[in-house]
Amino acid sequence: MVQQETQATDPQESEEVESANEETPPEASSSHPNPALRAVADRDIGSAIAVAGHPVHAMLVHFPIALVISTLGVDLLYWLNGDPFWIRVGLWSSGFAFIFGVLASLAGTAELLAVPGIRVRVASWNHAIAGITLIAVAGANWGLRLNVPEAVLPHGLLLSLLASAITALAGWHGGKLVFDHGVGLIISTKQ
Ligand code: HEM
Repeated sequence: MVQQETQATDPQESEEVESANEETPPEASSSHPNPALRAVADRDIGSAIAVAGHPVHAMLVHFPIALVISTLGVDLLYWLNGDPFWIRVGLWSSGFAFIFGVLASLAGTAELLAVPGIRVRVASWNHAIAGITLIAVAGANWGLRLNVPEAVLPHGLLLSLLASAITALAGWHGGKLVFDHGVGLIISTKQ
């Protein structure tokens, strides 16, 4: 116990611990002391599924994100004023959320399988699981509205809440892939 307190308050020792942590960064880098992480860092991470230098997945993801959140808004409006117009709007917005979600996921899956540096990262597969879970919930939300429109309250609203939460998770995690891991970038050689 006394020894632990001495360790925590010894500035020289805590400096040594800090510099050891600096020497072994947790993320893969080509200078990492762990050869397995060096091998991850050395693989290609540039986008392979792109049109004129623009990654297709990044172009498509905005649509399911916006449509899933819009469907939640539409359900809340229906809950507030009971106007059946919002049931019809929700049918269309949930349908397009699902269709664009499938398209975005196809582009994301192609990218995941085609690019070695993306395929080898655990974070990419975590993001894929979040994306596919979202597609399942968005599909259930649309199917409910197609078959049992009167069940929008409460079941459609609850599915919209769940889909919005998973969208936030998948979108935030996708952003981490790009901004923390640097995957899917196409760096132009032009100034
Ligand atoms: C099977 C499903 C999916 C896979 C395999 C997948 C894969 C990927 C990959 C590899 C990236 C890195 C950027 C790139 O290479 O294009 C990425 C980024 C991203 N993903 Fe997904 N994704 C999937 C579904 C989704 C869905 C449904 C959403 C919508 C919520 C989403 C949102 C994002 C976002 C916001 C980014 C960051 C894009 C950027 O800012 O450039 N992904 N995804």
